[in-house]
Amino acid sequence: MSQRNIRYQILTFLVAGYETTASAIAFALYYLAQHPDVLDRVRVEVDEVVGDEVPTFEQVPRLRYLRRVLDETLRLWPAAPTMARTALHDTVIRDTTVPGGYAMHPGDVAVVVLPLVHRDPEAWGADADAFDPDRWLPERSRGRMPHVYKPFGTGERACIGRQFALHESTLALARIAQRFDLTPEPGYELDITTRMSLAPRRFRLGISGRSVMSAVR
Ligand code: HEM
Repeated sequence: MSQRNIRYQILTFLVAGYETTASAIAFALYYLAQHPDVLDRVRVEVDEVVGDEVPTFEQVPRLRYLRRVLDETLRLWPAAPTMARTALHDTVIRDTTVPGGYAMHPGDVAVVVLPLVHRDPEAWGADADAFDPDRWLPERSRGRMPHVYKPFGTGERACIGRQFALHESTLALARIAQRFDLTPEPGYELDITTRMSLAPRRFRLGISGRSVMSAVR
């Protein structure tokens, strides 16, 4: 790689690789603080799988409920909210509701706005705006419309950091849930800021040592 290309790669990794995951973790903490019942279930799972130790890479696949929390967080607030594609040659984007679809010519750009896709009531139901990790249970996911969940993009240019981000977020959230109580700031209403990625604006959380152990500890 040339020196210039190495610089590009470092910038991409800082923006794509750091900020997005930080935003996803912040949104997940917001939801965990707002939904003590969900935090309790995460803790029961973490206590069963991890106990009192530092969570390990190998334990991540067993933290299934926490993964549902993350999936649901990234559905409602996909940290990287858009993806774009540029036509290289004449083509048509089909749309059953638009006769003839959309004609695309070389250089035309199509932008997919992920929060709209992720909250489409036709795909997700009347409660599309509600935070409900259990909508990711296998029995409730079966038969869902395809291509309605793309927090990491799609195809050849999909996110290369997907697995890393999911593992990192799961490990961080498991450790936080295991050790800390989360107290939402009274009166805080979720507000969104766009840095390079979406993030909760002026979001602050009270953190104190965990007070209640679940029955499995
Ligand atoms: C929760 C965290 C993350 C989210 C939500 C996210 C989301 C995305 C999205 C939507 C795209 C565009 C994909 C497309 O156009 O189809 C993308 C691309 C990319 N992501 Fe991530 N990402 C995350 C974490 C990471 C991490 C941790 C890394 C690196 C370690 C990373 C590196 C990249 C790179 C290099 C691309 C460009 C890929 C290409 O153009 O071929 N991302 N990401």
